[in-house]
Amino acid sequence: MTVPAAFNAFRIHNDAAGYRGGIETVSIDELAPGEVVIKTAYSSINFKDALAGTGEGKILRSFPLVGGIDAAGHVVASSDAKFKEGDAVLVTGCGLSETRDGGYSEYARLQAKWTIPLPAGLSLRESMILGTAGFTAALALFRLLENRQAPELGPLAVTGATGGVGSLALDIFSRAGFEVHAISGKPEQADYLKSIGASQVLGRDALATARPMESARFGGGLDNVGGPMLASLLAQTAPYGNVASAGLAASHDLGTTVMPFIIRGVSLLGIASAGTARAIRDEIWQRLASDWKPAHLDRICTREVPLSELPQAFPAMLAGGSLGRTLVVI
Ligand SMILES: NC(=O)c1ccc[n+]([C@@H]2O[C@H](COP(=O)([O-])OP(=O)(O)OC[C@H]3O[C@@H](n4cnc5c(N)ncnc54)[C@H](OP(=O)(O)O)[C@@H]3O)[C@@H](O)[C@H]2O)c1
Repeated sequence: MTVPAAFNAFRIHNDAAGYRGGIETVSIDELAPGEVVIKTAYSSINFKDALAGTGEGKILRSFPLVGGIDAAGHVVASSDAKFKEGDAVLVTGCGLSETRDGGYSEYARLQAKWTIPLPAGLSLRESMILGTAGFTAALALFRLLENRQAPELGPLAVTGATGGVGSLALDIFSRAGFEVHAISGKPEQADYLKSIGASQVLGRDALATARPMESARFGGGLDNVGGPMLASLLAQTAPYGNVASAGLAASHDLGTTVMPFIIRGVSLLGIASAGTARAIRDEIWQRLASDWKPAHLDRICTREVPLSELPQAFPAMLAGGSLGRTLVVI
């Protein structure tokens, strides 16, 4: 298979004409170097993509770059012997749409060291319904379990529950045997949240407490929003429970005291999906394709968009309007 001389990509610029992103034609030689060229089948929209696509967050470190932190497709050509034409592969994070051209492109050029062979048990489509969001939820579970989180400690709270990371965490954590409580600002989505794994749906006011320690209500959890809700989750976590911090949909601040740590032995675990080491990355994708594979991927994929609809999708996400995952069909 050959790569056409010109193809479509959603490229982001920041120059004298201002910050802007849109579809344009590019050639393969304009993309950041890499050993593996793929014909992209799917990407997805993550919060970070919305920040990058609109300029609301400083995500790109050089310009112009093709957007999209996720990509999955078939190998067209590879100078690395580990990959051959026709192989199904995926990449999430690893500099895509930060320092390298990303997945919002009909063809993408990837670094072999970060390219994951599609694990048996997942289709390319499923791999991008998961994408960075699913990888992040699974990485959180991986870290919680490493630090001895157990169902006996109590339910896991998931904040930003209707979002991509939140929805996939409800499904993955409940499959792994935990009782999961969804914390959401969208009470009208309670049926959706229960249908994908939540045993209870609580309003954001469940995490509106301001004291450094409250009675322990949760065994731990995954926080996607930051700010006072994360502080409140720490204050309501049981002795030796763990809280994974993944997001800042509400705030990047964290005002708390050392009390949950030194009185209850609570741990705050950092989740940084983009820079996860290759060995852990491989292990997590194997789990996502087998015992941690969410049971409700089709329900969680609430929307499919072509490249041309990306600009309309970003603002609603930044305004907190997400529901599940948006798949980008290339
Ligand atoms: N650390 C990592 O490696 C990593 C990886 C992926 C994502 N993230 C971060 O995780 C967060 C979620 O990402 P995503 O892709 O899942 O985004 P998303 O699909 O847009 O979900 C975000 C959810 O957060 C909640 N939310 C939004 N604004 C809020 C506010 N002001 N206060 C409280 N809750 C609010 C909403 O859920 P409800 O309406 O249900 O409350 C929303 O659906 C983002 O901050 C993202 O940057 C981090």
